[in-house]
Amino acid sequence: MSELDTLKRRFASADFLSFSEKAPGFIAIDVKTAFSTASIALQGAHVMTWQPKGQKPVIWLSKAAKFAPGKSIRGGVPVCWPWFGPHATEAAYPGHGFARTIPWLLVDAWKLPDGRVRLEFEPVMNDAACAMWPHPSLVKNIVTIGQELEVELATTNTGQAPFPLGQALHTYFEIGDINKVEIAGLAGCTYIDKVAGSKRKKQKGTVTFTGETDRVYLGTTGCCGIVDPVLKRTILITSTGSRSTIVWNPWQEKAAKMGDFGNKGEDRMVCVETANAVDDVITLAPGETHRMSAQYRVIKA
Ligand code: BG6
Repeated sequence: MSELDTLKRRFASADFLSFSEKAPGFIAIDVKTAFSTASIALQGAHVMTWQPKGQKPVIWLSKAAKFAPGKSIRGGVPVCWPWFGPHATEAAYPGHGFARTIPWLLVDAWKLPDGRVRLEFEPVMNDAACAMWPHPSLVKNIVTIGQELEVELATTNTGQAPFPLGQALHTYFEIGDINKVEIAGLAGCTYIDKVAGSKRKKQKGTVTFTGETDRVYLGTTGCCGIVDPVLKRTILITSTGSRSTIVWNPWQEKAAKMGDFGNKGEDRMVCVETANAVDDVITLAPGETHRMSAQYRVIKA
């Protein structure tokens, strides 16, 4: 039986889920709740869309995104794990880790008493992933869909030695116009400015955009907002277990080189990533579990 048929049979009674093959070997799960709809790719346990009822999509998915086994998806909520950015010592290893390009299993899915839907995913560690990550560990991605979207990464060290853990929920948000949005909640934080030779700077006021922006904010405290005067809404991001926030927009030239942003897609997106990166990489002790979660909510202007 195909993987698609197995999923359909296993979750036959879960009328809030439907499964389809978006491209050969690429399975998508559509989720319907009383409050919102979402779609999630099995590869990477990657939330691709989330749209609360009566509102515009909150999560941006590129119109030119490629859906193919082993390729990362431009948009949605990529799971960067177990490192963020380039690997610390192995230049040939994939940027942002391997979790986003390997298959995951849908372990369970259920409706909560308040009508939200929760899905729990675990990765299938192939040989290549095991070679890059020799540390015995378990990771789960737990996605809860309702009036809010919540994504939680739970990592357990099942071995005998500590290991370093870098990670990010690399979320792409849909916005009206990159020239007009502001990110609030990061004032006073030190950031690494990756477009200025990784110089360390201090954020004054809100973050605004006038060119390529690629910053790792350190020691962030878990609440920021994307203030969008065009779509007349603020997206509130709250997080737990995260000490870093990445803010990224590639601007025209870089987006054109990437080839999967679509026509002017970079004007309609901003990444605000809930992370533990650079100085904030975690050391996970044997037996310990680290939970990092992000909650997204829309507030109307
Ligand atoms: C951001 C990084 O998190 O992700 C950027 O800070 C990077 O440097 C961007 O360009 C996109 O990465 P990728 O691998 O998905 O193209």
